[in-house]
Amino acid sequence: MPENVTPRKKITLPYLFEKVKKGEPITWLTCYDYPTAYLQEQAGIEMILVGDSLGMTMLGYDSTLPVTMDDMIRHTQAVRRGAPTAFLVGDMPYMSYQPGVETAVRNAGRFMAEAGCDAIKLEGGAAMADRVKAIVDAGIPAIGHLGLTPQSVAALGGFRLQGKSAALAKKIADDAKALEKAGACAILLELVPDRLCQLITERAENCIIMSLGSGPHAHGQLLIYHDMFGLYPKFKPKMAKVYGNAGEVILNGLKNYHDEVIGRQFPAPENYFGMPDEEYEELKKMLT
Ligand code: KIV
Repeated sequence: MPENVTPRKKITLPYLFEKVKKGEPITWLTCYDYPTAYLQEQAGIEMILVGDSLGMTMLGYDSTLPVTMDDMIRHTQAVRRGAPTAFLVGDMPYMSYQPGVETAVRNAGRFMAEAGCDAIKLEGGAAMADRVKAIVDAGIPAIGHLGLTPQSVAALGGFRLQGKSAALAKKIADDAKALEKAGACAILLELVPDRLCQLITERAENCIIMSLGSGPHAHGQLLIYHDMFGLYPKFKPKMAKVYGNAGEVILNGLKNYHDEVIGRQFPAPENYFGMPDEEYEELKKMLT
């Protein structure tokens, strides 16, 4: 464990289910790097998702689709080093599970073996139930993701609220049941109406329901870290709460650095090291 990380017991699936039983909300955030993982661990965040959103937030792509398994493993390993006790979830990237059950199990296994994950997450409902079942049968906890599923954003018609009509909401509720039956230990509901999230949460028997922009009635909440701190320049989703403008703080620091170098105020004596006179004189002699 890195120095100064507040010791706490490893967060496990039984611990999370115990929280659900007690009616205590679970905290979940995205994270993609070691220093942020270190801070999230210290703040007591229980679950961490290394989301394929890293394609947008960290790698600057316009969507999550170009993200590879190797990208995911690299970032997930860094997060695990910073957050050794968090319940770590690896997000299966585009085409790492859609082609079939065997591909899905192999790639889920990589998250566990190479990055020390506690679970994996994949997008999709009943159509992905066979992947979820096979992954769970392989001994790997699997989390479903319904509602706005960014890997299918083209088919969904953009980043918008899902399940607005009764018929579309019923489909999401049915998908949630199919995933639960397949053995999913948790389901993330992204951007669905609060009352649909409430109904799915109430109907869940042995499955933790988490909300991202789907209201307060789930068993816990997820936010995208970059949205919380003004770190993603392209847009801020309406559902995200900004807890601080780190982007602005960093930008001001960068401008100050730029101005201080140009104005010869940086480096100051405390930012560099001198050399004893006799060594300096000796060096000059050696160089002549
Ligand atoms: O990749 C990700 O961060 C996600 C969230 C949008 C839930 O899947």
